[in-house]
Amino acid sequence: MTETMQAPRGAGAKKRLFVQSWGCQMNVYDSHRMADVLAPLGYAPVSSPEGADMVILNTCHIREKATEKLFSELGRLRALKEARRAEGGRMILAVAGCVAQAEGAEITARAPYVDLVLGPQSYHRLPELLARVSRAAGAVIETEFPPEDKFDHLPEASAPQGVTAFLTIQEGCDKFCAFCVVPYTRGAEYSRPAAAVLAEARRLVAGGAREVTLLGQNVNAWHGEGPEGRAWNLARLLAALAEIPGLARLRYTTSHPRDMDAALIAAHRDIPAVMPFLHLPVQSGSDRVLAAMNRGHKAEDYLRLVDALRQARPDIALSTDIIAGHPGETEADHQATLRLIERVGFAQAFSFKYSARPGTPAAAAPGQVEEAVKDRRLAEIQALLRAQQAAFNASKAGQEVEVLFTGPGRHPGQLAGRSPWLQPVHATGPTGLIGAVRRVRITAAHPNSLAGELIHPPDQEKHAA
Ligand code: 5AD
Ligand code: SF4
Repeated sequence: MTETMQAPRGAGAKKRLFVQSWGCQMNVYDSHRMADVLAPLGYAPVSSPEGADMVILNTCHIREKATEKLFSELGRLRALKEARRAEGGRMILAVAGCVAQAEGAEITARAPYVDLVLGPQSYHRLPELLARVSRAAGAVIETEFPPEDKFDHLPEASAPQGVTAFLTIQEGCDKFCAFCVVPYTRGAEYSRPAAAVLAEARRLVAGGAREVTLLGQNVNAWHGEGPEGRAWNLARLLAALAEIPGLARLRYTTSHPRDMDAALIAAHRDIPAVMPFLHLPVQSGSDRVLAAMNRGHKAEDYLRLVDALRQARPDIALSTDIIAGHPGETEADHQATLRLIERVGFAQAFSFKYSARPGTPAAAAPGQVEEAVKDRRLAEIQALLRAQQAAFNASKAGQEVEVLFTGPGRHPGQLAGRSPWLQPVHATGPTGLIGAVRRVRITAAHPNSLAGELIHPPDQEKHAA
């Protein structure tokens, strides 16, 4: 996934900032926060790197070829940077995110035209780092884990995010899954205090958000300080967020099965704003592989969790992550994964071919699986998951579902929105409904989206409101 920031905001600003985000929603969130930090210095986001005064590549290291992707993009930017210099200007080139954290000085060794390399814990220090860039002869590299909390030092999020907004409540991970770089690139688990989260959520709602998705690498491990000084769990935080007037929907991602406690399961039953959709990565259906991955639970534990969630909230839909061909995975292990997928029935899923991340235990483990075998296993997993997603979408045909309208659709007169289960839904309706939740009858189910019609057509909208 790549994403560039919305542009331009703050038209008339002197300096042009282009931020490119790869990877997870947390990176997208971080990119916005970097823009917020740089706004007082006169930087305003633009939508392309041509002629920019500063380019930040916010990188993701989680899967394959992250480093190669970065260097090929840097090569392209080098030409733009040189063109800028030929015109007498300067383009500051910065690499942020998890590849920056993992590779550090390697980046400037291979690409000496990079001015700044900064890890995810240093974004609040961008102004100071930029001042150092302007003074320094060579590149500035900042990949420490500073002791102060970056959230305390970042300015309040300024630009409204729209109807659906993201809010990072937790960062880092202490789980050390054998295949994963996150504990190394994002550092130890950290939870923001409840008061800070609630304040940011209120600001987002004031800016037009109706749905807030709480983000964290291990979001359900969140255990922040509550306003009265006692520790809160995520269930308690969701209950407090649900009280914010105007906030219609709450989601959280990404969760770990080990932190899915009874209170959080009950929150899906008791808090109507908590949407009946959960992304809960299982990675594998084999106990042998789960142990090799250091996941800390068995396949049966996951299935029990799914049962408990479905008992609490019968219409809950599940999403997951699966890795095909983790070191040590046999054909029998792969079959166990397919069986687990069949037993759960996922509404949506992400599946990946295992790829070694240097420095992680799995990268050096025996029993690396051949590429062709990984390809075949992944194809089998994806065929099954695709069929499950299509079946889930088809099950909504003819039903009435509540849709939060998020913006105009692709065709004139059309609106785009989301079902409670995160499915994109299109329906004809007036733009005045953007930001509203309305009942929609689903008329057609496609593999990745739904089409429907408003139960109360536009001319009756006044009476329905
Ligand atoms: N190889 C393949 N997939 C990986 N993921 C994380 N690390 C790797 C890796 N080395 C996947 C996991 C995780 C998702 C975000 O990315 O499934 O849940
Ligand atoms: Fe990585 Fe595992 Fe932590 Fe998820 S729980 S971020 S996969 S180490």
